[in-house]
Amino acid sequence: MAGNATTMGHLALHYSPAAEGPKAAKLLRLLGFSETQMLPLPGGNFYRFVVNDSHHAAGDGVIYLSAVPQPQQNLVDAVHAALKIGQADQHPSVAGMRAMLEADPEASFHLGFLVPSLERLEEIVLALQEGAANDPDLQDRVELTFNRARLGDTDVDGRLDASPVFGSVTRYAYGRNGVQVFIKTDLLKSGALGENTVLELDYVFPGTTSHILSVVEL
Ligand SMILES: [Fe+2]
Repeated sequence: MAGNATTMGHLALHYSPAAEGPKAAKLLRLLGFSETQMLPLPGGNFYRFVVNDSHHAAGDGVIYLSAVPQPQQNLVDAVHAALKIGQADQHPSVAGMRAMLEADPEASFHLGFLVPSLERLEEIVLALQEGAANDPDLQDRVELTFNRARLGDTDVDGRLDASPVFGSVTRYAYGRNGVQVFIKTDLLKSGALGENTVLELDYVFPGTTSHILSVVEL
């Protein structure tokens, strides 16, 4: 790390209820993060992950995972009751928020991670799809959405056409030369309604300064 440069330090993610901890940790491992610590606590395990092994003893690249604290859970429960979520007379703002996130998973709070190769990203996605199909801990808990790079670069378009993950994708990113994978999961709780979390995995093709993470295109 450059001596004077600030880096992204850590994220605090939460699961609920306590018994969901091992499943949430399994998901983070499938995403390629390394678990460096697991502390069993009465209210639910506390985990420390790092985004890659070079961060094992570092103060950045860290993800903490723990149970939703009870005061936060009380607030989420009160919000759900006040808005009558799931009932016939549910507050109309709930459907509006859900429709927005259905159309664009990154329209509200989410967390993005950059993956170093397209092959590694494809490997992670295939493992996630396998887990979501066959692992009872992940079945019905993970929803994936994909954005391809905007069309226009022959090499990028050809590589994505041939991809087992992106070949059939018809959604496009707000930029070029990169791809996005959104993982919506209720194994992690955050956001305005405290119901789920959107994680994003990105890959950016090398050798270009205009890509999905450098320039937003409308
Ligand atoms: Fe994003």
